[in-house]
Amino acid sequence: MLVTLKELLEDAQKKKYAIGSFNLHNMEMLPSFFEAAKETKTPISIQISNGTAKYIGLDLIVSMTRTLAERENVKVALHLDHNSDLDFIKKAVDAGFTSVMFDGAHLPLEENIRLTKDIVQYAHKQGVSVEAEVGAIGGTEDGVSVEHSNHTDPEEAAYFYKETNVDALAVSFGSAHGQYRSKAALDFDVLHKIYEAVDAPLVLHGGTGVSYDDIGVLIENGISKINIGTILNVTYIEKGKETFSESSLDNSLRNLLIPCNDKVKEIIKEKIYHFNNNRALAN
Ligand code: 13P
Repeated sequence: MLVTLKELLEDAQKKKYAIGSFNLHNMEMLPSFFEAAKETKTPISIQISNGTAKYIGLDLIVSMTRTLAERENVKVALHLDHNSDLDFIKKAVDAGFTSVMFDGAHLPLEENIRLTKDIVQYAHKQGVSVEAEVGAIGGTEDGVSVEHSNHTDPEEAAYFYKETNVDALAVSFGSAHGQYRSKAALDFDVLHKIYEAVDAPLVLHGGTGVSYDDIGVLIENGISKINIGTILNVTYIEKGKETFSESSLDNSLRNLLIPCNDKVKEIIKEKIYHFNNNRALAN
């Protein structure tokens, strides 16, 4: 069943775990997301970058995801990841996404608030959740780079949340998008101050670079959603290089992609296990 991110985050906050939000990079890998969620009996969020949204199309993404959610009987939020194009975000709401992110982190605070409020008003009217970002998370994702990261100021975050009433707040305290060769040095002091100042479910971006040893502290300090993108893409390419280089030309393409999809499922299951404080949860 497609559900809102808000519904998933409420459950995560109550039971003290973090929802894994996984970036879809192509259509082929989508069924593995559902297999992982089903086998771990855990709800997930599937997030769509601007690049993936343009590549597959909003309508097709919604219909594929809805079909699989119903067929597999899994609770899933369909979330539009980082986007700052108001018209496109509204199209995603109209198309049937159950959650959208307005990313105004690069804007002056008041402008970020003004545009976020516009999206909140539009999305909430249709029962769709909204995530926004305060402070800038650095790194590169899907070809989009943010060079200067900027830790979230706890007071600014509290003010932003009070003004916008978003359902989830992405905050910056040391993680970076696209970090897959090393681990992030997180500033737990900053996170703790944000947690004390803001009542919102907090979101960690750049989850690929986060060490499993840090997950418990993150959850204790309000992180309710962890975004994972790069590791799925990197692993898919790594496995694909292997299967493609070993294959003859008359092999079905399908046979070369199934092992890549299986790898994605394995990684999502592993992440879910750690985000759930080392346990599988019942739906
Ligand atoms: P990674 O690509 O570093 O896993 O981060 C994903 C993300 O934060 C998407 O918003």
